Amino acid sequence: MSTITASFLVEASFRRVLYIVAFALFIYGLSGLTGPKTAVRGNRIAAVGMAIAVIATLLVDPLSNIGLIIIGVAIGTAVGIPAARQVKMTQMPQMVALFNGVGGGAVALIAWVEFRTSDGFAERPTYVAIFSVFAAIVGSVSFWGSNIAFSKLQELISGKPMTIGRLQTPLNALLGAVAVACGVAIVAGANHEWLMLLLLVTAAVLGNLLVLPIGGADMPVVISLLNAFTGLSAAAAGVALNNTALIVAGMIVGASGTLLTQQMAIAMNRSITSVVAGGFGGTVEAVAGASAAGGTVRSTSAADVAIQMAYARQVVVVPGYGMAVSQAQHAVREMAKLLESKGVEVKYAIHPVAGRMPGHMNVLLAEADVPYDQLKEMDDINGEFSRTDVSLVIGANDVTNPDARNKADSPIYGMPILNVDESASVIVLKRSMNSGYAGIDNPLFVNPKTAMLFGDAKGSVGEITEELKAL
Ligand code: TAP
Repeated sequence: MSTITASFLVEASFRRVLYIVAFALFIYGLSGLTGPKTAVRGNRIAAVGMAIAVIATLLVDPLSNIGLIIIGVAIGTAVGIPAARQVKMTQMPQMVALFNGVGGGAVALIAWVEFRTSDGFAERPTYVAIFSVFAAIVGSVSFWGSNIAFSKLQELISGKPMTIGRLQTPLNALLGAVAVACGVAIVAGANHEWLMLLLLVTAAVLGNLLVLPIGGADMPVVISLLNAFTGLSAAAAGVALNNTALIVAGMIVGASGTLLTQQMAIAMNRSITSVVAGGFGGTVEAVAGASAAGGTVRSTSAADVAIQMAYARQVVVVPGYGMAVSQAQHAVREMAKLLESKGVEVKYAIHPVAGRMPGHMNVLLAEADVPYDQLKEMDDINGEFSRTDVSLVIGANDVTNPDARNKADSPIYGMPILNVDESASVIVLKRSMNSGYAGIDNPLFVNPKTAMLFGDAKGSVGEITEELKAL
């Protein structure tokens, strides 16, 4: 009986059933990621799907190198679990970059191993060789590009665009051409390992040179793009290895990464090509205390802000990157509760690219237990600013910049913004007059309706809360 059970478990058809269950869970889990309420459950469902896919793969008979597989799984678990538990929310983009890069690197190594074990693909059909060299090139670019993205965001290297000038594009084209030429020679039957190594090395240098010229702040878009690359390379490896799980999972990652990149680019009113061309989003030096856009800046105190908000009917909180930097979300929630206890209606205006990663503000505010129904998407809240007494801008800058509507030569012209300047009064919490990610002045700060409360966002919100308590 046990022999029958054992042989059934290693049946190819049983593995296929497990794979179908895994795909269904991937897709169902992914649909859960469309809203904050279902996101955690969606993530868990997809993780269960991945565990089933791994188990199904391990049921391959005969399974060689089980010892090495166990060591690999043990190392991955020992590194992955503490890293995922300890990572701060603000460090999430670099963590995604690192994990994504590892995926691309694994795919490139698989292609290399296939080359070695199949006598330079001589023992495989031509399509396997084509998909394998594609996986090797794209996987290698993704691995090295993701490592540069990680290093920039982790500040291991400068976040400023690093370029070699006009030679950059021709050099990149040359590297790409050499990698493709090696791939063509391998597919045509040239069985030399140095060709495979040259392909991997040129793709590696290309991956570095593609990402180095891109400014640190553009990295989330680049990471999403590299994520799509990794997905495509994994799908290609799946075709080469005749593994449906890898094809489906790779295509899901490739498609969702591509759509996410496109949506981010649209929300920033930038083309993907302009992001990849680099030079935008480097660190910008601005002079603290200078007047933005040539107007006069009016500063205020926590006590005045508290009085103004305590007597308001509606306050709209507009969070941005600075709230994430200062980790002010819990302090903001405490302040909002106090305002609500005084009869003030509090809402949160969420811009799709506020912060530095998709859903950045939603995640932070959810962490502070802000009720989901108070989080308003840009399109839903924009009509309400004209009926709002106070807009409290907390560490947000570009996403409130009226130049995006009015100034045709502004780099952010055309980006939809939160129309905070339509509210009766605007209070901006930030540390200085420094610019945000786009590196430009914000005329909102010199609007006569606006008052600036300078200081770290968390400290300022704490002071306002203390003043509210005293009222
Ligand atoms: P930004 O325009 O980057 O402005 C953030 C502001 O926060 C800065 O002006 C800074 O001014 C302030 N700040 C920083 N640390 C602070 C602290 N501890 N306390 C108080 N204020 C602090 O942010 P945003 O309005 O959220 O806009 C996001 C930008 O990032 C957009 O341009 C968007 O296109 C870009 N971007 C977004 C994404 C995604 S997916 N979200 C990806 C890539 C790029 P001080 O230094 O004066 O304090």
